[in-house]
Amino acid sequence: MTTFPVRLVGDGMLVPCVDGNERPYVALDTAASTGALEPVLRRVNEFLPVYSAVHRGSGYKSQLSTDAYEDARQAALGFAGREGRDDVAVICRNTTEALNHLAYSLRLCPDDIVVTSVAEHHSNLLPWSRVATRRYVECQPDGTFTTADVVAQLDRSPKPRLLTITAASNITGWLPPIDEIIDASHSRGIPVAVDAAQLAPHRPLPQMADFIAWSGHKMYAPFGAGVLIGPRDTFADGEPFLVGGGTVNLVELGGVAWNEPPDREEAGSPNVVGAVALHAAIATLAEMGWPAIIAHDRRIGRMLRDGLASIPGVRLLGPDLHTDTLPVATFTVDGLSHGLVAARLSAEDGIGVRHGCFCAHPYMMRLLGLEEDEVTDFRNEMRQGDRTRMPGAVRASAGINTSETDVGRLISAVSRIAGGAKAPVTYIQDARSGDFNPYLNSMPWSGNTRLTEDRVSRAPVPS
Ligand code: ALA
Repeated sequence: MTTFPVRLVGDGMLVPCVDGNERPYVALDTAASTGALEPVLRRVNEFLPVYSAVHRGSGYKSQLSTDAYEDARQAALGFAGREGRDDVAVICRNTTEALNHLAYSLRLCPDDIVVTSVAEHHSNLLPWSRVATRRYVECQPDGTFTTADVVAQLDRSPKPRLLTITAASNITGWLPPIDEIIDASHSRGIPVAVDAAQLAPHRPLPQMADFIAWSGHKMYAPFGAGVLIGPRDTFADGEPFLVGGGTVNLVELGGVAWNEPPDREEAGSPNVVGAVALHAAIATLAEMGWPAIIAHDRRIGRMLRDGLASIPGVRLLGPDLHTDTLPVATFTVDGLSHGLVAARLSAEDGIGVRHGCFCAHPYMMRLLGLEEDEVTDFRNEMRQGDRTRMPGAVRASAGINTSETDVGRLISAVSRIAGGAKAPVTYIQDARSGDFNPYLNSMPWSGNTRLTEDRVSRAPVPS
């Protein structure tokens, strides 16, 4: 049985703070990227001596590498619950690439309607704007919508070609009723693509989705592999998304015979190390088991969200505290810029969070309750290279490695900052990035941006 929190590579590293002390780093930005699982690193180290060309060489190492790569593909299909279906797993870089790949492969026309929601991150908005007309499911001020809201958009004319939707918000951690939404869409004959970037490390993937995309770097396998899964026939005809080596059976100067899926969809040398890492992460999560992971998430998520919500001056964005969400808390602090709060958490407390709009601008504008003319003003300022007033919030996101002590440190640091504690150093905002940087004795304090050999050598070593 796994004991939570689970230690990841690099956990416990001491980082410098502006008061001259070092503190163990608190990693609360897992919704952006997680650290690596120790078994993932071990498996990569074990694999590297046999690393060789996949699908290309006849040598022993090439055969082992090809087997490892294809095993990873099978593991990805298993992770998504695809056994017994004629689906293919395309191994790509990440969710963004997977959704671009899918948008290209569906051969949509500009007049085709793709229904999506305002809660998506940009990777599930922008790829569709290039190939089709988007129709949106709106959200309530708390960032949620119902299956009925989705159905209302599916039932409008013209009939949509696709519904593409997130299974978990990267800002609020909200979990739309995804299985119910998929059922409703299927009963209308509309296929569904699910963006599972946030869901993948936290909950089982929805098995009934027609297409599903997720990333290794958000599920403890940061070696550059992600996955797109869909029915084989989606990828059987027409030109592949990227063309080149591996995608072809025969090339003549005047023509080409494409390979079969999934190989035709993976141009160039595949990322076998990334695939091996992803496979190890899938196996490790399976060993822990979803019930244990979900129980840990709920315990930590409750502590995180309740703790932040109870601080005077702190406003949590998203659904109320009774709603089951991922362990994610996005918040604002009255009277303080999100950039300043995030900078202070890092420089004074060694806590890593993310701030801003989290690559989901339309959703963020709604959660913050901004009016259209306010958004226009910010857009104009940003076009002139000025991000000083860029709206946003601070996000703390947890994972299997987050402990109660981590959350306690965040709550006490935010309480101190929100309570008006004077900063021990001066923070100066960079207008171009909107970020705040600490200054000590009128000089930029760079202690938090330098990685010394000494710091690396003192970091806890994987067992
Ligand atoms: N990776 C982006 C995030 O941090 C979308 O949420």
